[in-house]
Amino acid sequence: MKLRHLKIIENYQTKIMKRKIAILPGDGIGPEIVDQAVKVIKAIEKKFSHSFSYKKGLIGAVAINETGNPYPNETHELCMESDAVIFGAIGDPKYDNDPKAKVRPEQGLLKMRKDLGLFANIRPVQTFQSLIHKSPLRRDLVEGADFVCVRELTGGIYFGEPRGRSEDGNKAYDTCVYTKEEIERVVELAFSFARQRNKRLTVVDKANVLSTSRLWRETVQAMEPKNTDIEVDYMFVDNAAMQIIQGPKQFDVMVTENMFGDILTDEASVITGSLGLLPSASMGVHTSVYEPIHGSYPQAAGKNIANPIATILSAAMLFEYSFKLNEESNLIKEAVDKSLEAQFVTEDLSKEYAKSTSEVGDWIVDYILKK
Ligand code: IPM
Ligand code: MG
Repeated sequence: MKLRHLKIIENYQTKIMKRKIAILPGDGIGPEIVDQAVKVIKAIEKKFSHSFSYKKGLIGAVAINETGNPYPNETHELCMESDAVIFGAIGDPKYDNDPKAKVRPEQGLLKMRKDLGLFANIRPVQTFQSLIHKSPLRRDLVEGADFVCVRELTGGIYFGEPRGRSEDGNKAYDTCVYTKEEIERVVELAFSFARQRNKRLTVVDKANVLSTSRLWRETVQAMEPKNTDIEVDYMFVDNAAMQIIQGPKQFDVMVTENMFGDILTDEASVITGSLGLLPSASMGVHTSVYEPIHGSYPQAAGKNIANPIATILSAAMLFEYSFKLNEESNLIKEAVDKSLEAQFVTEDLSKEYAKSTSEVGDWIVDYILKK
């Protein structure tokens, strides 16, 4: 009897996890929504007796204002020594209409991606039963749609050299560059996602026009013989943009280069009914970063009205991917589902009975602690 008791304590103790989490709220609504995600992580920490430490860092326009640098060194070091990063949003209208601005908040995000080696951005596209009526698509088209976009995040036209302007200013250029190795590592990851799901992978490219796309296609084709359990198909990006609207249920895992992925994931996110609900994970060589896919929504900043769910679900992804704690992750997802079912939601989902950002966060925390 005593021994059994000891065993239980031992098992219990091995499950306790000590982890460092970096918190990067960023700009606009970033701080408000990240606060809710941190509250939820703390509720999980308490409920499952884990031991997390939290440290905040600057990124984006707030970092420019305080240090002149959108991704200061201290922030990079903080990320490197952490086990996971929760990130809010960056972007400030002050910089948007100033083509001559020397530094931009977005440069902070791009630098973080590059310096942390975050070569893959994972965006699950899932519908929520209680919100299907919000989708711009017909119910029969969108109900049950469930796929994952894997976007390459540190290559392509976002980073290629040369880039710039001619001396007279009348010509500008960006360069799209990919190496075989960059393609292989992100596609390898996409294969592993497909393997855990319905074993189908769609490679999106523009191989009829671009030589980088032809390298993508050639590289994936060469990987096929080692991944015969996965059914691979290839789709041109213009067609993919149409298919996401016409038949989103056909997709399981989609993999694509940086800019195509940027565009297609915004498109894919709205078919579910709300941009405010979708989380993402950026994974790669060092610490992974978890962030909502929506932006900094400056018009709502400081008003306590933004939807915190995408950030809270990003925390659920953090538990699943970085900490391998599925029970914890599932409890967060369950709490979010229940809050939606109870229609305890922010104004983007219900004008009439809108709750505030922090009220939604509190509701979800409460559900977790009471469960
Ligand atoms: C995203 C955003 C960024 C991107 C911007 C803010 C630089 O749109 O994460 O999708 O283009 O990658
Ligand atoms: Mg984008």
